[in-house]
Amino acid sequence: MTELVTALPSATAVRGQNDLTGRVALITGAGSGLGRAMAWGLACHGANIAIVDRDAAIAERCAREISNGSGTRALAVRADVSREDDVENATNRVLQDLGPIDILVNNAGHNIRKPLIDFSLAEFDSLHEVHVRGTFLFCRAVGRTMQAQRRGTIINIASVLGHIAAKNVAPYAAAKAAIVQLTKVLALEFAEHGIRVNSIAPGYIDTPLTRQHASDVRDRITRTTPLGRFGEARELIGPVVFLASEASSFITGSSLIVDGGWTAQ
Ligand SMILES: NC(=O)c1ccc[n+]([C@@H]2O[C@H](COP(=O)([O-])OP(=O)(O)OC[C@H]3O[C@@H](n4cnc5c(N)ncnc54)[C@H](O)[C@@H]3O)[C@@H](O)[C@H]2O)c1
Repeated sequence: MTELVTALPSATAVRGQNDLTGRVALITGAGSGLGRAMAWGLACHGANIAIVDRDAAIAERCAREISNGSGTRALAVRADVSREDDVENATNRVLQDLGPIDILVNNAGHNIRKPLIDFSLAEFDSLHEVHVRGTFLFCRAVGRTMQAQRRGTIINIASVLGHIAAKNVAPYAAAKAAIVQLTKVLALEFAEHGIRVNSIAPGYIDTPLTRQHASDVRDRITRTTPLGRFGEARELIGPVVFLASEASSFITGSSLIVDGGWTAQ
């Protein structure tokens, strides 16, 4: 039998797999929490960053923090991800000021916790507008430009609650499950254009979003997480850099769970 020996990539190529020098990354909800940490992580690997947030002040602060600390360019753009005109304007502004977008991270979001029968329709709609509509609108706007340039990677921030159920989060869990499915469909549609689409499903991470949880909820989460603690926002940096870079070149349509072992049980 003939032994098949394929050439291995050079050591320099392997070490440089996470290099994002000169790439442009657009991250929504990047003024706070996970988005801010992921923006910083992508910038530290060389990407120029568009910080998109509906809160202009925190977007500006985050852009200053990134450009001062990492030396890459950072642009603050105010936009509500659920508004079609905001999304189109933000995309055009980033294209104009930073150039073609290589990396899109759909991260903006919020949560409301209570039993389903206590939700108003407006509360239900607000969750689906930011998570599902916002992800759809940015995937469509930036996806068009990625198709034209025949490259790009999209990372949608879902949640473990898009994969498994828990009480008191029905609209949020349904929206996150929709993001997991939207990601898979888009991965199929975009593959032939050289674009990869994946989601990240975080478990419980300590951010302004989860600090709103009542102390008994936080205690229960800590007790039931195998690693015995909440995650930290910086622990999303490795996963997002991995999915944004050459290191994950054969991964598309997947959902990367980052939850301290919570869903393994
Ligand atoms: N923290 C967790 O444990 C956790 C777990 C799973 C998933 N997530 C998801 O991660 C994402 C980020 O959450 P976080 O914990 O960092 O929350 P966060 O509250 O710290 O940050 C959310 C950011 O999104 C922005 N935002 C909200 N609605 C927006 C809109 N309509 N348009 C533009 N910007 C908007 C906010 O201004 C804020 O800067 C969310 O999608 C959330 O559902 C978080």
